[in-house]
This record gives sequence, structure tokens and C-alpha cells, in this order.
Amino acid sequence: MPIRVLPDDLINQIAAGEVVERPASVVKELIENALDAGADQIVIDVADGGRTLINIIDNGGGMSREDLARCIMRHATSKLDTGDLLNITTMGFRGEALPSIASVSDMTIDTRKAKDGASGLSLNCSTGEIKPSAWESGTRVRVENLFSKTPARLKFLRSDRAEMMGIVDAVKRLALSRPDVGFILNNKWRFPKGQPMAERIVAIMGDDVQGRMIELRYSDMVFGIRSVSQNRIPNPNTEYRLFGFISEPTLRRAGSVDQYLFVNGRPVKDKVLVGALRAAYADVMSTREFPLCALYLELPPREVDVNVSPAKTEVHFLEPARIRSFIIRTLRDALAVPLARQVEERRVQSAGEIAQHLKSSFLFTAPSAGESVATHSVREPVKNYDLSNSVPNTECRIPNTGQGPLGRVIGQIGNKYIIAENHAGLVVVDQHAAHERITYERLRSREINRQPLLVPLVVKLKPEEVAAVIEVAEELTNSGLKLDVFGEDAIAIYEKPADWDLDWAAMLRDIAAEVRATGHSSKLSEKLHLKLAGHACHHSVRAGQRLDMAQMDALLRDIEATERAGQCNHGRPVYKVIPFRELDGWFER
Ligand SMILES: Nc1ncnc2c1ncn2[C@@H]1O[C@H](COP(=O)(O)OP(=O)(O)O)[C@@H](O)[C@H]1O
Ligand SMILES: [Mg+2]
Repeated sequence: MPIRVLPDDLINQIAAGEVVERPASVVKELIENALDAGADQIVIDVADGGRTLINIIDNGGGMSREDLARCIMRHATSKLDTGDLLNITTMGFRGEALPSIASVSDMTIDTRKAKDGASGLSLNCSTGEIKPSAWESGTRVRVENLFSKTPARLKFLRSDRAEMMGIVDAVKRLALSRPDVGFILNNKWRFPKGQPMAERIVAIMGDDVQGRMIELRYSDMVFGIRSVSQNRIPNPNTEYRLFGFISEPTLRRAGSVDQYLFVNGRPVKDKVLVGALRAAYADVMSTREFPLCALYLELPPREVDVNVSPAKTEVHFLEPARIRSFIIRTLRDALAVPLARQVEERRVQSAGEIAQHLKSSFLFTAPSAGESVATHSVREPVKNYDLSNSVPNTECRIPNTGQGPLGRVIGQIGNKYIIAENHAGLVVVDQHAAHERITYERLRSREINRQPLLVPLVVKLKPEEVAAVIEVAEELTNSGLKLDVFGEDAIAIYEKPADWDLDWAAMLRDIAAEVRATGHSSKLSEKLHLKLAGHACHHSVRAGQRLDMAQMDALLRDIEATERAGQCNHGRPVYKVIPFRELDGWFER
């Protein structure tokens, strides 16, 4: 068969295969257009999972007659005026969405460029005919009978319900990218314009995240409602900025559904970011569980290529390794803020609220609202809850005076929970989980003991495996493994962590495979984590052990001063606070 140039409608249908895979991709492209047009209110209605109808109305700038005629031409866009593909600041730039969608559906566009005083217009995309319309301002794109012209594709659609879920997900991702914009989907999912970020996150991820997301601000963080000012900018290279919300480690999902990632405002699915997120939580969450997040990475447009996939959901970073370590560092810092610092700050902020709590408490003597908690961060930790040398003191004498954030010990129940009272309510501490976390953090903060090898251990690998391992050599050094290339196809290990024997050759092969698949490796740090965690678990106060008041008090004060104290290193919670509000509710006060 001779070569022939394909006709335009066929080219568009082929392009549509990449750009508009599913109804959700149509919704995504049309919302992106509305955002690019400056809309701050977008109303989306779909029927039958988007198969029969997708209708999107925006209050953006609208289109002139010339633009309306051009918008469904292939590779026609108003967004690349400089022609510079490495300096993209709009959601769209490929000029492919409208012609692609038009080629696989019955589409009409109503629009009016009110700013020019022009009148409303309506375009029938099948015929190209433009007629006057009563449309008042902004744009409405109506897509009917999607894929009816391409039956093969129609066959590949999933159930209406499944397609609808995809649409909801697409809307949620875009809604999280722009809290300043209002979104209404089928009159059921409503995200009002200018909604505070924290509220939008709860609306999107569910009520269970309320008060359990840690906010990262460029250089400071807010934990739930508690703000923590860090007098330190997390990133000395100000060209990268990370902000948003991440979940407390005790809040997690079985899949990655609630991980929302954005690069320069664009929702993305990116393995560098996902990998960094996972690595940041490695100490506090098992690998089968997924943290929640709405994370926004900002960097100069030139450092990221968004023109990688037609759907624009993938990106390439110029310096993925730097981005990865920047994100890990920032998130780890946020997760590590010791409790004492978190509550200290809250105390300063809402003394009035606390005074309220104090008034409602009649059962116990509570600390006075003016009392400083700051003292605890510099306290000498008391270590005498090691049970070896003490006889439990069952006398109900309260040895401690300066209550920290976890409050004043009241006693122990079931020989496994410590009961305490703080300004907010009743505190219940799992003694084993608490001690385990403290032990783990102590082990971890100790320098890794390195053992130089008299004869370097040479591991034969494929050249591409060598390249992959060398890419993460610095991270491996931090975990105690010093190595370098040894010819084309081997790696020599010069130092390994002392008292730790592994099949290092197998480990390097695993690391190489992981780096090649995901661009990074957490194999070694995960193994290290498991080793420390096992040790910490073994050497910790067990459930079932009786503790005296002084031991319990010491344990509480230590938790307050410990990093990542909210959960044990298996991710289970260490303590819970039952607020007075809730107690009052029990007694209908
Ligand atoms: N909702 C809208 N409001 C105003 N103009 C729009 C809208 N949707 C599309 N357009 C115009 O149509 C052009 C083509 O849209 P599209 O095919 O999605 O390509 P791209 O978004 O990549 O430019 C856009 O560049 C824009 O000028
Ligand atoms: Mg577009």
C-alpha cells in the first residue's frame, strides 16, 4: 500500500485516543480550559458516567468569533505566544483537546466575550457553523454521545458508575489545585469559591482527616490547628518550595487514593514525588499503607518539562534527585516535630480557649492557664522507668509537678495504659507503644557504626545495574554502606554497617532493580528501619508491666521530648486525648 497522508478527522480521532481516553479526561481538559480562561466558578453536569452528556459552564473570559472558529482546529492554541515550551504557565498548551473531543462526540460551544461588548455565539462543532446565541458571559461546552463515532472505544468504557468515579476524582484533583475557584459537580459535589484550604481538604478526603493533617507552610508548619513556627527555612535553595498538608502517620489509607500531588499548580502523577513521600514516611508507616497528602511543589518552569504525555499528568524534572531529597527532608522535618513544641505553640495561641476548658473541668486540679510549658523542652529526661531496679510505687502520690503537654499522670489501668489529664481533656497513653517509639528514636539518632572492610567486597553486576546503584550512592552512604564503581560491571563495597550482615550482593541487585523501576531506592533504609524497630520493640516496657507514678511521669515527659512521638514505629497511635468537649457530651452537659 502506498503511503498516504491521513485526513484531518482521522488524525483527530487518533489524537483523541491519547488525549481523551475516558469521560474523566474530557472533564479534566474542559475544566483546565475554563481555569485558563480565568474562571472562578465552574459548574459541571454529567449523565450516564459522561457517556451521554458532559456539560461544563464557566464564568471565564469567553471567546471572540475568530477564536471560536479556530478553537477546534488541530494544534490551535492561544496559550503559547512565546513559542517557548519550557516556560509554560497555563494548564493547556498543546491545542489538542477541543479538536480531539469534537472528533469523537457531538459538541457545541456557547460563548461570549463580554469584555469586548460582543454578542453571544454558538458553535456546532460537527458542522463548524457559528450562530448568534443568547449566551450572556463565559463559556459553555456541551459534549454529547461521547465515543459514539468510535464504537471500539465505547466498548472499552467501564460501567457508568466506574466512569463517574473517575470524573469525581478528576474534579477533586482540580478542585484541590485551586481552592480559590468554586466547583459544582452534578449539584452534589460542591466546593465553594475561596474555601479555606483545610476545609476543602476535609470536603475532598473525608471527615476523618479533620484536625489530623499537618500543614507545611513554605518555612513553617501548622499541626492540625496547632501552629508551629520554625525559625528555619527548610530549603536553602529557594527555587524549590513545598507546601500543603500531609497526614499524621496514624491516619493512612490502604491505597494511594488520597494522595494529591501538584507541580506548579498542575495535578500530576509522578513517581519521583510518590517515591519521596513514601521514603519520608518509612520510619512511621508500613509500606503496605499510604499517607494522605495535598502537596504543592513549586519550582521555576524551566526546571520541569510538562510536555511529556498528551494528558499532561506526567512531568520530567531536570534534577529529580535534588527534588527527591528536598521533599524527603521537608516532610521528615514536619513529621518529626516533637509534641512539646507543637503544644507549646497552641498554648500561646489559644489561651482563651484553654481557660474555657479549665472552667469546665471540676474533677481534677488542672494547671493554671498561665503556666509555662516551655520549660519541658529543656528538661533533663528522667530515665527511671527501666523496671530493673525499682519496686512499683502504688501509693497515689503525685511526684511530678510541671505537667507537659501530655499532662499530669493520674494512674495506670490494666497494667498497660497510662491515664493522665491535660488542659484539653483525658489522655490515654499506650505504655508499650510509647516506650517503643522512644527507644527507636534513640537508636536511630546514634551514629551508625561503620566497619571498614579490609578486603573490599566486589559485587558483579550488569553495567546498567552499576549505573543505577551509583545514582543513589550518597543515600547508601548515609545508611552506612560505602561503595564505588569497580570497573564497568562491578561495584566494590568499602564499608558496611558494623554488626550487620546481609547478602550484600543480593541487596545491591534489589536496589538496582528498584532504582531502575522507580528512580530511587528505599530498600536499605527500610531494612535498617525494620532492624531498629525490632530491637526497639524487644527492649521496651511491655503491656502488663506495672509502673509507679514516677516511672509513668518520666515516660510521659520523654514522649513529649521525642520526635515522631504520636505513633509507635509500626504506625499505631501512642496516645489519644479525649477532649472535655467529648466527655461533656457523654454526660449531656
Ligand atoms: N472555556 C474556554 N473559555 C475560553 N476559551 C477557551 C475555552 N476552552 C477553550 N478555549 C480556547 O480554545 C483554545 C483551544 O483549546 P484546547 O484545544 O483545549 O487547547 P489548549 O488548551 O491546549 O490551548 C484555547 O487555547 C483557548 O483559547
Ligand atoms: Mg486545553
